[in-house]
Amino acid sequence: MLYFGKKKNRINAVAFHKKIGEEVGPIYKMRTPTMDIVFIRDALDSQTLLSKDGKHPTIPTFEIFERIRKQDLGDVYPSAGLLSSGEDWYQARSLVQQDMMRPKSALFYIDELSELMDEFIHKLESILDKNRKVEDLAGPLYEFALDAIGSMFIGTKLQVLQGSEYGKQMINKVTRLFQLLIVAQGIPPKIAPYIPAYKEGVQISKDIYEMSKGKIDAAVEKHKVDGSLKGTILLKMIERCGPDSELPVVMANDALFAGIDTTGNAAAFLLYHLASNPDKQEKLYQEILEVVGAQGKMTEEHLAEMRYLKASQQESARIAPIAMGTIRTAAQDMVLSGYQIPVGTLVMRVGVMMSKDNKYFDNPESFLPERWVRGCPQYEKPRNAHANLPFGHGPRACVGQRFAKLELYMLVFKLVQQYKFSYDGPEIGINYLGVQCSKLVHKCWRSRRIL
Ligand code: HEM
Repeated sequence: MLYFGKKKNRINAVAFHKKIGEEVGPIYKMRTPTMDIVFIRDALDSQTLLSKDGKHPTIPTFEIFERIRKQDLGDVYPSAGLLSSGEDWYQARSLVQQDMMRPKSALFYIDELSELMDEFIHKLESILDKNRKVEDLAGPLYEFALDAIGSMFIGTKLQVLQGSEYGKQMINKVTRLFQLLIVAQGIPPKIAPYIPAYKEGVQISKDIYEMSKGKIDAAVEKHKVDGSLKGTILLKMIERCGPDSELPVVMANDALFAGIDTTGNAAAFLLYHLASNPDKQEKLYQEILEVVGAQGKMTEEHLAEMRYLKASQQESARIAPIAMGTIRTAAQDMVLSGYQIPVGTLVMRVGVMMSKDNKYFDNPESFLPERWVRGCPQYEKPRNAHANLPFGHGPRACVGQRFAKLELYMLVFKLVQQYKFSYDGPEIGINYLGVQCSKLVHKCWRSRRIL
């Protein structure tokens, strides 16, 4: 904390870890008034940490959600869902694991996402200025992400891209909640209830749940009439948990809540990387022409063949991972980089430092999807899989990753198929304050049909 007191040290999180790592090496501990955190940036340490996760890995940063849901809003939230710990987390995760993590789970929605992308393009056309530039794409990308989760999880068109009140409020509230909880994390639990940021966080958590529950209840009622939930994750969860269980509502709420900033920002960075690397964008376009054609619709079979599309997503997530890293409470004693780490220590893998380390990737700053494509001269055999874990790893790995990836594939596929786009602003990086990133500006779109 004293370190941050000095003006010259008030730099963004990535610059901070870069600087401190150069000064002190691959492992260091930061003391704050509420907690001490050990940071690691070596893939072997990551491997050691996560291999000792045990049956109930603990994510200490979720503790604040669990506390709000169980203590402050126990009468609103029937369970803390996946944002909990111990056996509660395990029970919740077991119920959704299969339906959400099966490789084919998300592919069922490929047509829905394709239709949604038509709406996104309609919106994009309406916000392009006379030079066919758009100032801020992050907003519409958040809207797309929320609409996508609405279709896939609760079989409901939330009309977020069309400007629905629900969509506007949900996006504002989720964004605000992340900002508030970053502040509240640093406050000791005993005094937190008296702090305005915490109180607002509790109120927003309540609003989000009630808003989502309204949509989910309506979807269930509609299903009784027209069977519209068929194939959705919500129906699968209801069948698994029984009609009286409230867990499916909590889980669907979590998906609506967790799927906005994350996928929205990942999409923004993926488009930014393709816009600022026109040769890579062209290569992707050629793959699209070859596999699907200039007008065709993407199917599951096409997607299986589109290696450059997937590699582009993977490479963008390597350079700009949406989560700076993942964090655990050490489940047992261990040795990391030669230091004894006792059970109970908070350890954060600074993932972004590993995925951009030339120990693990050649020219780590370059956007080079080819490094992921077997058979390309630039293909790099992974030196350690732990060097790049944008969705985390192990039993607590991101439960929405298959859905997020499908959204990103569909978005980029449709945009590159129909447009050639470029970027002419300053270089953009992530400032890890919550999950928010900077605005994307000055993107210039030219329709392929016009070219
Ligand atoms: C590009 C988009 C996304 C990224 C980069 C991302 C990343 C992550 C990461 C790094 C974790 C922590 C993993 C760990 O600690 O090992 C996580 C957890 C989680 N994610 Fe995602 N996520 C994304 C999209 C989504 C979506 C769309 C959903 C909802 C459908 C979602 C729901 C969750 C949930 C519920 C957890 C907690 C899982 C648990 O603790 O059991 N995420 N995500």
